[in-house]
Amino acid sequence: MAVGIKVENLKAWFGKTEALHGITMDVQSGKATAIIGPSGCGKSTFVRCLNRMHETIPDARAEGKVQIGETDIYGNGTSAVQIRRRVGMVFQKPNPFPTMSIYDNVAAGLRLNGVRNGREIETVVERCLRSAALWDEVKDHLKKKSGASLSGGQQQRLCIARALAVEPEVLLMDEPASALDPISTSKIEELIFSLKQNYTVVIVTHNMQQAARVADSTAFFLMGELIELDKTAKIFTTPGDKRTEDYITGRFG
Ligand SMILES: Nc1ncnc2c1ncn2[C@@H]1O[C@H](COP(=O)(O)OP(=O)(O)O)[C@@H](O)[C@H]1O
Ligand SMILES: [Mg+2]
Repeated sequence: MAVGIKVENLKAWFGKTEALHGITMDVQSGKATAIIGPSGCGKSTFVRCLNRMHETIPDARAEGKVQIGETDIYGNGTSAVQIRRRVGMVFQKPNPFPTMSIYDNVAAGLRLNGVRNGREIETVVERCLRSAALWDEVKDHLKKKSGASLSGGQQQRLCIARALAVEPEVLLMDEPASALDPISTSKIEELIFSLKQNYTVVIVTHNMQQAARVADSTAFFLMGELIELDKTAKIFTTPGDKRTEDYITGRFG
């Protein structure tokens, strides 16, 4: 089930460099929210703070409040592992487990969670590969071909299937299509569009047309600050802030 995200005064550092200066925003449940902004404005840092990936970087830390549904993810008694089970992530560069078969890539998270029933795993693998719009292309060699043998676009859909297998409530995607060809990109976009019915999707993109196509809401970041968050159509037609307007009309970035 999809849940909303509440972010309050989120700050993040790399050593002494403050990458996020206090972000406060709500991410709507069961919708896709795009994060846009010029390179270095803190988009990746922001999404990584939503599943506590930021703290895996040496010398990095975060402060403030992030609530996923009812859970305070930085609260006492909440573990990073617990959170990452509920908040899946897809990166810019597809990162399937290269030597594992397609099947095992999708099954990996389930097995890690202690699922042993072969038939149950099989059902989930098929469902997730179908959700990720990859099933038809791989169903005949699920256990024979490795994750690395697929094309870039297929690998990215495999990573999405892998993320879905553990039934996350939130799906974070950091420029998931920026390394892909146009056909794979449009497949990923269609996929994001359909996934948002069941998941809360946060997608970082530097492609404004892509944000316009897939996202219900769009947040514009600039130098570690949230400048504006609104319905996507509003952001791209009549933004409220001059800086947003300058960015979307291509005056910088
Ligand atoms: N691993 C890192 N170590 C030090 N500084 C970093 C690291 N990653 C990002 N930064 C800095 O943090 C700021 C935000 O970066 P990032 O979140 O990656 O921006 P974006 O994803 O919008 O391009 C930038 O100033 C960037 O140089
Ligand atoms: Mg980035």
